[in-house]
Amino acid sequence: MFFERPKTGEVTILVQLSIESDKEREDPIEFEELALSAGALPVEFISGARKQPSPNYFVGSGKLEEIASAVRAHKAQVVLFNHALTPSQERNLEKELQCRVLDRTGLILDIFAQRARSHEGKLQVELAQLQHLSTRLKRGWTHLDRQKGGIGLRGAGETQLELDQRMIGQRIKSIRKSLAKVRSQREQGRRSRSRAEIPTVSLVGYTNAGKSTLFNALTNAEAYAADQLFATLDSTLRRVELPNFGGAIVADTVGFISHLPHQLVEAFRATLEETASADLLLHIIDCAHESHIDYIDEVNNVLKEIGAESVPQLQILNKIDLLERTKPEIEYDENQIPKRVWISAQKGIGIDLLQQAVSEILAGSLVSETIRIAPEQTRLRSKLYEKGFIEDERIDESGFYHLEIRLPKQELERLMQQGAVLEQIPELIESSDPVWVAKEQARTA
Ligand code: GTP
Repeated sequence: MFFERPKTGEVTILVQLSIESDKEREDPIEFEELALSAGALPVEFISGARKQPSPNYFVGSGKLEEIASAVRAHKAQVVLFNHALTPSQERNLEKELQCRVLDRTGLILDIFAQRARSHEGKLQVELAQLQHLSTRLKRGWTHLDRQKGGIGLRGAGETQLELDQRMIGQRIKSIRKSLAKVRSQREQGRRSRSRAEIPTVSLVGYTNAGKSTLFNALTNAEAYAADQLFATLDSTLRRVELPNFGGAIVADTVGFISHLPHQLVEAFRATLEETASADLLLHIIDCAHESHIDYIDEVNNVLKEIGAESVPQLQILNKIDLLERTKPEIEYDENQIPKRVWISAQKGIGIDLLQQAVSEILAGSLVSETIRIAPEQTRLRSKLYEKGFIEDERIDESGFYHLEIRLPKQELERLMQQGAVLEQIPELIESSDPVWVAKEQARTA
């Protein structure tokens, strides 16, 4: 059942029961992927069914014996439950099984602790870890061999067990303070970007879909990409120049998973909220993954939860190199607005089409104007050529340039601030306006 089994790691037993009262069942394949991602060496998957969890051990006595004998047979170091366990269930299980027991939240927190890269991300994970662990301080296995590190003991978990409740409270307070500071700095950055009218494009997607790889391909940055879940935990911002459009900010965000424990959505709310204020979402989809249709829904559910469901979305079907006969292409909706782009971020296939589609969406409000600039404004003129905004030009007897341009509205506003003078009203109105036609005929006569 286990694919790509690693050669090393902590020997781990996976447990997932089908509970009758559970409305949403977790996916066992994803559970294995999460365990592998945490560096576990899963050796046995124990499944079963129950009407409802038993209050003391979550599992019934027969199942508990089955797990205990698997632990003994494999000399397992960890038992992972793909469920939320109460602190006392975790404690009882550890006492009975004589090894570390971790629930789904603990497992995901551990992965987050390994992957967080920015200062803010690390603080967010530490806070969530401390909150999760503070209820579980009285471990039943303090007498057991407690090696440093290992699943559930990384990040804050390493020193956590040596601290008492009071010290944890103090640490939580100080993390909250630092987080508030980081957030206000981020808010300032966001405000100044919106003042400069630079649109923000946020990459979202199920974990491992290829966000970091695409982020790198778009920005030529060396962001960290790894074939492990959650390689990205912090939203990373970079400025890019889009052909025929101009500047935009691209934001890489945290990877989503199904049923992200609510406390984690809370922990990452600030980072995720950045997504809700984006001008466009690029929803990256691993089209070669068998569950990609379900994952699209999962991502959209999280987007709804963070209030980002109404931000325009462009679906990016990534990893087409793994499919047969799929060419890079843009698919348009009935209003001729791009809705899907097929690419391979890793192989660099279709990146130009993706840029084109993003430009087309962001430039939805493209305007055509004729402007006049002074003879000495040569730098401005060459910049406009560089960006592909100029469609035609004429020089009058005083050396002024009269440029016919087509460009995004916000770029035009910026030009006016730089001294360009608007000469005519937009073409469409011009041709249907008899006064303008008469004036224009008189001028050219
Ligand atoms: P999280 O940080 O976990 O959310 O992941 P992510 O969405 O940022 O994914 P990442 O860019 O780290 O890519 C995940 C894996 O997919 C890496 O091994 C990439 O090399 C691989 N990958 C990304 N794009 C492609 C692609 O176009 N084709 C193939 N074959 N692999 C790809």
